[in-house]
Amino acid sequence: MSELLWQKPGTRVDERIQRFLAGRDVLLDRELFVFDIEASAAHAEGLAKIGILTGEELDAIKRELGALSMDFVSGAFVLDERYEDGHSAIESRLVERLGETGRKIHTGRSRNDQVLVATRLHLRAALGRLRGHSVAIARVALDRAGADAALPMPGYTHLQRAMVSSAGLWWAGWAEAFIDDAQLARDTAAWVDANPLGSASGYGVNLPLDRGYTTRALGFSRMQVAATYAQLSRGKFELQALTALGQALLDVRRLAWDLSLFASAEFDFISLPAEYTTGSSLMPNKRNPDLIELLRASYVVVAGARTEIEQLLSLPSGYHRDLQFSKEPLLRAFAHGLDALALVPDLLARMEWKPAVMRAAIDDGMFATDKALELAKDGVPFRDAYRQAAESPLPRAGNDPDASLRARREAGFGALDALHARLDAL
Ligand code: ARG
Repeated sequence: MSELLWQKPGTRVDERIQRFLAGRDVLLDRELFVFDIEASAAHAEGLAKIGILTGEELDAIKRELGALSMDFVSGAFVLDERYEDGHSAIESRLVERLGETGRKIHTGRSRNDQVLVATRLHLRAALGRLRGHSVAIARVALDRAGADAALPMPGYTHLQRAMVSSAGLWWAGWAEAFIDDAQLARDTAAWVDANPLGSASGYGVNLPLDRGYTTRALGFSRMQVAATYAQLSRGKFELQALTALGQALLDVRRLAWDLSLFASAEFDFISLPAEYTTGSSLMPNKRNPDLIELLRASYVVVAGARTEIEQLLSLPSGYHRDLQFSKEPLLRAFAHGLDALALVPDLLARMEWKPAVMRAAIDDGMFATDKALELAKDGVPFRDAYRQAAESPLPRAGNDPDASLRARREAGFGALDALHARLDAL
């Protein structure tokens, strides 16, 4: 490992202890590295503004940070166990390239606010992607809601046949769900959009750091005013971001449940695109919805991550190394969750209904509610109408799913304009 930032002359470093302290942390920092570099450039600009760096020093630092970022992306620079963490790697590269000038970058900052600001930028980007995926899913569902408005299917409660429904109504439910998820992602991104840089170790510093400047430079909408709150928000903001991600994946979980049921021979309402199913190693007849099952299971990753972070947040105020453990669950859950969500729009766009099977599954009992309400419309008290409909003997020829859906549309159900308007605004 390169020399530690904090190593004092004459002290010995035990490799085994060091490995335990750093753990996988430096590898996880790969995900934060470009954000750490971006925040380092803003910090350097702030230092130049208060005369700690000359214009030339600032230019040199920004040039080297840009080169480091490019080398990292191209693979020419590898962030690995040679460094204690990503923060050390940035500083040691600047020192290696710029000598004295590089040794000034850490003026007025701590790795405590450095990791916070890099994570915050990562969170903002991840929530932006969450919003994008949720919008994409909602868009497909809403388009298909319009197209399939008149396609009858059974509506279930308790998984028992309940009322006539339509594929359009089924789609509209998912569209509205993912519109809400996209909105939550956007609102959560706004909630976490606060700059911790400049809080240093958690108590500020005796330099007039221009925190307003770094806040604007990094595109934050506000700064975390109390240096002490910056550390209190570590884990707390991650948890809220995971909550937003979890809402979308909970919807995916229930959606995947529907799809796995509908794709079974027992329901047989849909066929899935071939690439989304897999074969069995033993049973030649099988096409299994493994992908849908993994989508359904994906929420587990987020729930686990939330629990880990929640468990960590049993600490007094101020920085504690415990907080390092908030990094891995956050990164793992977002990486997996966003991958899962990214697969959903195409799956939904290409699944196909089996209209004849769906229609055949609508039995006469499913018109009983319509019947009772027809009677109520004619003035029969609803409780009497309810009894009559329940007792009415055999199916009447008029049990027509299309008419049932039409009557509901005429009563004002199924208009999608409001959903289109919300989606367009996201
Ligand atoms: N890897 C550390 C973390 O994630 C960076 C901050 C280290 N700060 C410290 N005071 N040891 O928390």
